[in-house]
Amino acid sequence: MLVPKKLTNKDFLSSSDLTREEIINILGLAKLFKNNSLDIDLKNKVLGLIFNKSSTRTRVSFQVAMSRLGCSTVDLDPKTSQIGRGETIKDTARVLSRYCDVLAIRTFNHSDLEDYAKWSSKPIINALTDLEHPCQALADFLTIKEEFEDFNNIKLTFIGDGNNVAHSLILCGSILGVEVCIACPKGFEPKSSILQKANEINGKNIKITDDLDDAVNGANVLYTDVWSSMGEENNKEDKDKFFSGFTINTDLINKASKDVIVLHCLPAYRGKEICDEVIESKNSRIFDQAENRMHVQQALLYSLLS
Ligand code: CP
Ligand code: NVA
Repeated sequence: MLVPKKLTNKDFLSSSDLTREEIINILGLAKLFKNNSLDIDLKNKVLGLIFNKSSTRTRVSFQVAMSRLGCSTVDLDPKTSQIGRGETIKDTARVLSRYCDVLAIRTFNHSDLEDYAKWSSKPIINALTDLEHPCQALADFLTIKEEFEDFNNIKLTFIGDGNNVAHSLILCGSILGVEVCIACPKGFEPKSSILQKANEINGKNIKITDDLDDAVNGANVLYTDVWSSMGEENNKEDKDKFFSGFTINTDLINKASKDVIVLHCLPAYRGKEICDEVIESKNSRIFDQAENRMHVQQALLYSLLS
C-alpha cells in the first residue's frame, strides 16, 4: 500500500522543492485518490487560501481536495482582510499559521511567497507566482503519466511565453528526466535563473528555440499557456504581435509525433495561443489535466498534513 512520504522541505514554493521520489509518490497517491482507492480522514485540518490574483481551478480544486480529506478551508479575501490594507507579511504569516495547518498563496512576487514561508510555522504552498506554478506542473505530469505510463523517451514541447508555467514544467521535467523543449519568440525565453537550476538538476534535457518545426518534431506533448499572464494586461497588444505564428493549430499537431497529446493549464484564449478545434480535438487532454489539479493537490496535502 502506497503511503505518503514525509517531504524533505517544509514548503512547496518551487517544483525543485520536491525530489524525484517525492514527486513519483505524490503522483501515485493522486492516482489512488482519483480511482477512489484511498479514503483518508485527516480530521478537520484547515487550509488557508490567500489569493492576490484571480483563480477558478486552483481555488476550487484546493477547496474540494481539503473537503475530500475531511478537512476545511478558509478563503481570505485580501481586499476585505487587513492584508489589503498593508499589514506586513511577517505579521500576517505568524498569525495565520497559528490558526491554519497549511497555507496556499497566489501572488505576484515570488519573494513575497518566500517571506510567508520564512515567517509561517506551517507549510506554505505556491498556488502561482510570477515565477512558478508548481501545483500545475504536478497535474501536468500526472496527465502525461496517465497517457504514456512512464516518462521515458517523452518529449514535451511548450509553445509560448517563458513564464511561470514554463518554469515549473522545466524544473519538474528536469527532475523526472523528461526532455522539455520551449519554443518562444526571441526575447521571451524562460528566466536564466530557472535554466541554471534545471542545468544543475539535469541540463541535457532542456532546449530553448524559436524554430517551431524543430520544436514540434517528435513531440509527444504539446503544451501552451496564455501569451500575457495575470499582471501583464497592459502589454497584451504588443505581446500578441510578438507571438503571432506561435498558435497551436491542427497543422502543428500534424507535424508532431502520431501519439501527441495537447495540454493547456487554462484559462485559454481561443484563436491566440491555441485554436478552438485543437482544444476540442481527440488529441486534447486539457480537461483531464484540469481535473488532475484536484487529485495531485489532495495527494500533496495528504503528504504535508499527515
Ligand atoms: N490553471 C490555473 O491555475 O487556473 P486558475 O487560474 O483558474 O486557478
Ligand atoms: N501564466 C498564467 C497562468 C494562469 C493559470 C498566468 O500567470 O496568468
